[in-house]
Parts: sequence; C-alpha cells; structure tokens
Amino acid sequence: MKTSTFVPFAVALAILAGCQGGAPNNSQAEAGKRPEGKKIVVGFSQIGAESAWRTANTNSIKDEAEKRGIELKFSDAQGNQVNQIKAIQSFIDQGVDVIAFSPVVETGWTNILQQAKDAGIPVIVSDRRPDVPDDLYVTFIGSDFIEEGRRAAQWLVGKTGGHAVIAEMTGTPGSAPANDREKGFGDVIADHPDMKIVFEQTGNFERAKGKEVMEALLKSPEGKKINVLYAHNDDMAVGAVQAIKEAGLKPGKDIIIVSIDGIHDALQGIVDGDMNCSVECNPLLGPFLFDAVDSVLAGKKLPKRTVIKDSMFTVDNAAEVLPDRKY
Ligand code: AHR
Repeated sequence: MKTSTFVPFAVALAILAGCQGGAPNNSQAEAGKRPEGKKIVVGFSQIGAESAWRTANTNSIKDEAEKRGIELKFSDAQGNQVNQIKAIQSFIDQGVDVIAFSPVVETGWTNILQQAKDAGIPVIVSDRRPDVPDDLYVTFIGSDFIEEGRRAAQWLVGKTGGHAVIAEMTGTPGSAPANDREKGFGDVIADHPDMKIVFEQTGNFERAKGKEVMEALLKSPEGKKINVLYAHNDDMAVGAVQAIKEAGLKPGKDIIIVSIDGIHDALQGIVDGDMNCSVECNPLLGPFLFDAVDSVLAGKKLPKRTVIKDSMFTVDNAAEVLPDRKY
C-alpha cells in the first residue's frame, strides 16, 4: 500500500490533533463525516445490473452508505468498461474522498488508477479484482472465485463418483469470476479422467442469456450427451432450468445442475428439485466496503486482500436457509 495516497488526510488529522489535544478516531468523529466536519464523499462505479447477485450488491452498498451518512456518488456502467473508466475519471475530477469500484473485466485499468493515485485519491476494489500493480489500489474485498470453482467441482465429483459429461456456462468474458471459476473447476476435474467438459459458452451472467444458450445446446449433438451443467452463476442456471423443462427434460435429474452465488431463486430451485448445488458468493459487501473507507480515511493500514467467507447450498440445507434469503 502506498502511504502517499493518504497524505492529505493524514496531515488534516495531525493538525486536528494539535488543535484539540488528540487525533479523533472513527468512533469520536461524527458518522459519515471527516474530522473537519465535511461529509465523506465516495464515488462507486458499479458494473451494471446483470444478475440478482449484482442487484443485492448494489442495494447493500447504497443502504450502508445511507446508514452511515456518507454521500455516495453511484454510477451504473451497464456492463461497459468504457463507462466505468469515464465514471472513475469524473470522480477524480470531482475530488471525491475515496473511489471504489468493481471492475467488469480484469485488464485495462492501469492508466485510470494511476490517475487516481496521482490525484491522491485512494481506491478500494470491491467484488472483482483488476489486473494492475498492487500500489494502484489500497485494498480488495471479495470472494475467492478460484475456490468457488473448486468447491463446485469437488461437490460434483462426490455427486457423480467422478463420471460426468459437462456443459460449462461461463460468465462475462475476461471477468475475474469467469476466469477464476473456470480455472478452479478445471483444476479439480483434471484429476478425474471420466469427467469431461464437452461444451463451453458464455451466458454473460444473465438469466435470459442462460436460457438462450441452453436452448441452443439442447438442439445440438453435444446437448444429447450432457448430464451436468456447471454455470458460473445462479442466474444463468435458473434460465437454463427453464430451457431444460421446455425441452421436456427434468432439470436436477436428467441434467445435474451446479452453479455459484446462492441467490433465493437457486435455493428455491434446489428445494423444488430442479437444481442441485449452489456455492455461495456473498454480495452483501456494503458494510465491509465502508469499514474500509473509514479505515482509509483514518490513515489505518489495511490488508491488501480481505476474502469473504462463503457457504454452500444443497438439498441438505437449502430449505432451512430459504425463508431468510433476501436476494
Ligand atoms: O462478480 C460476482 C459475479 O458477478 C456474480 O457471481 C454474478 O452473479 C455477478 O454478475
């Protein structure tokens, strides 16, 4: 972490310490305000609204900012990296206190993050990591996507005894969760010669696209062979379930379905017998994000990475969790 990022605020703290006989910490400062009384302003560039996960993530961030009295400048990039770069540029121009973002794809961020650094604005990365030098952001908060892919595959090995003909529905091309979930899953099944991926196509993390891809697959020769769908998120899996039903097959039985996120509709699918396993990816990152904002502005050192702990849902626990699932 580059301490130079925090210098202006550290100086403000030192001045206040001199005037008031002690540097205020977060609990002493009024919520949502910097010690000098100015409201904290955070610019957040969100990817879009491609999935139920993303909507829950957006709500968590907006709710938490409001709860803490922080001014949130929220920008929805509609799945487009150019829009995210423009939003970050505008946050720099406005001189926000902290910039936070979830990068739609891994590459292409170095230039804009260097500009934020040059402007002395700390950057917090949430959910997906960008492929940039470590000194261009303060901290990254999110799940371990490689581990999620591994867990999906390990569950599948147990379920099928290591025999499976798999269709893999991938997320947004070039995104960290698509890259990592493919890798984690692939690493595990590489040790099982009777588990084969015979089809791979993106559904862009979208429910409608998931349905479309599965419809086309079921009409193709590969579609007749598969007995497993591994989808990089639940929305695509839920869309695929619909297509499988419309083709006269039984999802969850004729085709075993394992996916990632743990959204309400997937848990419902498991309870209904249409889906089999969902590895959790927790979208409720708002509290973590704004704790990090507070720490950054108080000049505290943060870990480079905070991994969010995730659970896993199958027929063994989905019914119990479902009533309280808010997203
Ligand atoms: O980056 C997290 C992923 O993005 C979620 O798994 C997916 O649903 C979302 O769109």
